[in-house]
Amino acid sequence: MIKLLLRTSRTNQNKSSRLTFQLSSCYNLNILILSKAISMNILLPPEGVRGMKVFDIEKFSKKISVPTVEIDKENVVIANEILKDKLIKLSNFKPIRNCDYDNNKRVFILDPSKVSSFHDLNLNFTENFKYIDLLLGYENWKHEDIIRSVLPEDLMLSSYSSIGSIVHVNLKAELLEYKYIIGQVLKDKIKGCSSVVNKIDNIKNVYRNFEFEVLCGSSDLKTSVKENKCCFDLDFSEVYWNPRLCTEHERILKKLNSGDILYDVFAGIGPFSIPAAKMGCVVLANDLNPNCCKWLNINKKKNHIKDNLLTIFNKDGACFIKDDLKAHLISYSEKLTHNSNIKIHVTMNLPAIGIEFVKCFHQLFEWEEISDYSLPILHIYTFVKTDISYENGLKLILVENDLKNCDIQEIFRVRNVAPNKEMIRITLLTKKDMICKTNNIKRKIIYTEENKKTKFV
Ligand SMILES: C[S@@+](CC[C@H](N)C(=O)[O-])C[C@H]1O[C@@H](n2cnc3c(N)ncnc32)[C@H](O)[C@@H]1O
Repeated sequence: MIKLLLRTSRTNQNKSSRLTFQLSSCYNLNILILSKAISMNILLPPEGVRGMKVFDIEKFSKKISVPTVEIDKENVVIANEILKDKLIKLSNFKPIRNCDYDNNKRVFILDPSKVSSFHDLNLNFTENFKYIDLLLGYENWKHEDIIRSVLPEDLMLSSYSSIGSIVHVNLKAELLEYKYIIGQVLKDKIKGCSSVVNKIDNIKNVYRNFEFEVLCGSSDLKTSVKENKCCFDLDFSEVYWNPRLCTEHERILKKLNSGDILYDVFAGIGPFSIPAAKMGCVVLANDLNPNCCKWLNINKKKNHIKDNLLTIFNKDGACFIKDDLKAHLISYSEKLTHNSNIKIHVTMNLPAIGIEFVKCFHQLFEWEEISDYSLPILHIYTFVKTDISYENGLKLILVENDLKNCDIQEIFRVRNVAPNKEMIRITLLTKKDMICKTNNIKRKIIYTEENKKTKFV
């Protein structure tokens, strides 16, 4: 019953008032709840905006009657303590105002869902309590309330992301007829927003930047973001950027120390590479998208990164691993002894296919080229299908990619990307017989007493 009444009251205030009257003799409890619901609705945008598809600011005007109490100036502080939870809370709305006809008084404007008579106020001094008319408008509501009031009651906007000055939504088919209203409201209400864009399709293109439609605002999608104490400039139409990965980027950065080496195979505009180089790691950052390299260079300068700490490559990940990573690690390998403490990290964030690049490491080096202290730690991102169960999906990934017998140090569940799909990170320490050639030479390790060196034969 309670549910029914609340729903009715949301749909139509007038109807629910009539309903209250009809039911009043029988259902006292319900009436109480219903009158509260009506009062709460009073503070929401007018019911007339529901279904609006062409933005009309005038339709948001609404005249309501609200309780007020006039308080003498000397009692304002104490009254504020007592009444602060009962004041009307709306955007751009001052609930304590000067009194029009008496300079020595302030008017407290009260929430009708919490106050209906002077007795509700618990004030121990007598003050003038009365109802006044108030004109509310578009500026008084947050975007959540406006969008909820505009959309049919069974629809809602699930979420949005902010990328600097760009607000990004991913509208379901049934919301598309309201897309321009949603765009307008988000642009008006979200501080610093210059454009609202809607993702048109799933990310399918190679560079992982998505097809979008500008719903409201500027079609120039250049913006700036901050992440892990670094500043990044980017053009959202040219490159991939996902603000939801900030914490995961931070998790990896916490594993790095100054002097470590980072090979960032699918670097994007540098959320791993730039902060890592800034903290003193030697970084080789690669991305196939030339625009990513352009923005990587801009961000390198912006974050004052020294040339010797960050080198940028624009190649397919497989070529980068087989040529540049290989040559660099070989040249470094000699310096890496058991007491050097330098770790080699490889980030591979291209979850749709990145795991397939692990095979580029198989037998990449000659046995002598790599020491036990220069074995890279791979941070591989991939998607797990959880239709049957997470455990089942994970097992499949490990078997299909031949990772079951690797030295897996961590499997981290990064985030849900769809109802039956999770993004995970597999962090594994490579083994020498995985990344070095062993098959064409029969190897014997000879320890010679004279020179105390290990020889490979
Ligand atoms: C999911 S984004 C990750 C970007 C960044 N590392 C991050 O964590 O936000 C993947 C990146 O891989 C790049 N990419 C796609 N295919 C590639 C390939 N075959 N070789 C190198 N980079 C590739 C895309 O251009 C994109 O910038």
